[in-house]
Amino acid sequence: GLPPRVRIHEVGARDGLQNEKGTVPTEVKAEFIHRLAASGLTTIEATSFVHPKWVPQLADAEALFPLLTDISGSSDISGGSGSSGSSGSSGSSGSSGSSGSSGGSGGSGTEGVHLPVLVPNERGLDRALELGARRIAVFGSATETFAARNLNRTVDESLAMFEPVVARAKDAGVHVRGYLSMCFGDPWEGPVPVHQVVRVAKALRDLGCDELSLGDTIGVATPGHVLALLAALNEAGVGTDTIGVHFHDTYGQALANTLAALQHGVTTVDASAGGLGGCPYAKSATGNLATEDLVWMLHGLGIETGVDLAELTATSVWLAGHLGRPSPSRTVRALSGA
Ligand code: HMG
Ligand code: MG
Repeated sequence: GLPPRVRIHEVGARDGLQNEKGTVPTEVKAEFIHRLAASGLTTIEATSFVHPKWVPQLADAEALFPLLTDISGSSDISGGSGSSGSSGSSGSSGSSGSSGSSGGSGGSGTEGVHLPVLVPNERGLDRALELGARRIAVFGSATETFAARNLNRTVDESLAMFEPVVARAKDAGVHVRGYLSMCFGDPWEGPVPVHQVVRVAKALRDLGCDELSLGDTIGVATPGHVLALLAALNEAGVGTDTIGVHFHDTYGQALANTLAALQHGVTTVDASAGGLGGCPYAKSATGNLATEDLVWMLHGLGIETGVDLAELTATSVWLAGHLGRPSPSRTVRALSGA
């Protein structure tokens, strides 16, 4: 059967914007995230605390994160150990940038919105904790080539790099997601054997990750392959209740793959507003599954998301204006008459 409700893990501000050629101004990012929260999304990946030379598009993480304190209130940004001025000034700049959208949703407002951030190593964790982040994500690879290109490490060296990160985060009460990239195919190595994915997934779980996200980084998966991987993970003791799926739509399979996963116990789905995204360290990785396309399917199936599709679509159209090109999402185009 299908779940009554799906939790959407929104990655547009991170996975999407990290892949833009140009750098989006920090205030535009802050307004984007405010508008995503106002549209009802409750898990919004905000940025990455990676090396700024590796991902220059997200080099403003220190400037951006304090602009978001008003979104999650006390639920996800603890105020950090930084200067006392940060929360006060951020409140005013955040609301001046987007008071209309963030205040306009009424009801529950943006209480309980989570703002996870990517962290590859202890240096990244220090930066994130300093700003009061309460949810982080480490990001491993099922293949050696992508581990080398994305993390400058072998797969096992990257797991060793994550070990103290996860341990320290858990000690601090911080929720940890473990991304696993190249779960289906790799642009350099071709199809990725299921057992190779299971090994790294188990290792991430054993480090203490609270949830895993299975990444089809280059979008080559098809539904049968998804089911085979979920079955193998289940057999290895990695249950679908802690698994999220992260599909890219390169071959137009992302929704079919999502439906297959939902029919087999998955209830967390990653998606990117307007279909933004890809990955700068993986050639031929095009956009993530568009959140609007996902919401259209889920609502059609009677599955709750909490998302206001019209408001989300307006947000993606607005951001597309800043990026200077239309959203690739079919649903955005259909609903906006573009
Ligand atoms: P490295 O060059 O091996 O780093 O890069 P290092 O550990 O040797 O350190 C070198 C210098 O960098 C040192 O400075 C460190 O302090 C500094 P120095 O002492 O020489 O002056 N440094 C840092 N500075 C700021 N923040 C940090 C940091 N770490 C070290 N966190 C590293 C290793 C992991 C840092 C690098 O490879 C990196 O930043 N990689 C990130 C790449 C990335 O963000 N990729 C995109 C995200 S993954 C993705 O999109 C896939 C996903 O969406 C799922 C899917 O679709 O599959 C999640
Ligand atoms: Mg991705």
